[in-house]
Amino acid sequence: MGMGSGGTTPRFSGPTLAFSVRPLREGDAEALAAFYGALSAESARFFEPYKDTSVAAMREVVRRAAEGVDLSLAVLDGDGRIVGHIFYLDVSKDVPHLGIGLLDAYHDQGLGSALLVYLIGVGRHVLGKQTIGLTVLKDNRRAFHLYRKHGFQTVRDVTFRDKDDSYEMWLRFGAAKAEPDAGGD
Ligand SMILES: CC(C)(COP(=O)(O)OP(=O)(O)OC[C@H]1O[C@@H](n2cnc3c(N)ncnc32)[C@H](O)[C@@H]1OP(=O)(O)O)[C@@H](O)C(=O)NCCC(=O)NCCS
Repeated sequence: MGMGSGGTTPRFSGPTLAFSVRPLREGDAEALAAFYGALSAESARFFEPYKDTSVAAMREVVRRAAEGVDLSLAVLDGDGRIVGHIFYLDVSKDVPHLGIGLLDAYHDQGLGSALLVYLIGVGRHVLGKQTIGLTVLKDNRRAFHLYRKHGFQTVRDVTFRDKDDSYEMWLRFGAAKAEPDAGGD
């Protein structure tokens, strides 16, 4: 693995370095359903943007992307297999929420950080948002660490499966500070 003195060692190597990112498109529903089906139980608990991950449900996900409701991107390995799914849901919102999930074999190698930086750039520069958001289960320490490291701040507790089991986090770009809705939980 070493690159010699003074070199930089990639955190992953070989075929994994050939990853790419592209918008979801017609025909992806089966592969997307297979991706969700291949997540470990822990990853599926942390990353469950859709209750139903059947092929039929994934067709709806692809349709929303094709119509521009969501910005939804497949992360592919060198063989074109979907190994990750990253997105903003409902890009028309003032504070759209992003999501990011990778197959377990791709964790802890820096890929999630790279994809998060990409999504942050898209949110700020392409979608033109002043604030972006996300929700994360409180016990998802790796994801929470990642989001904090990239500037997200906790704005409130939210309920995903159990009461107050998650944080809503925001990253604000604009000078003007948007505030979370009054009231709620
Ligand atoms: C969360 C996820 C996208 C992160 O991607 P990744 O490629 O694994 O993350 P990276 O390797 O880029 O970075 C992980 C960081 O978390 C840190 N980390 C790993 N495990 C940790 C833990 N248990 N507690 C705290 N920090 C942890 C690593 O040290 C690294 O931080 P560093 O860059 O400061 O050293 C990916 O792990 C994933 O898909 N997990 C399952 C689904 C999920 O949880 N999605 C997010 C839902 S909100």
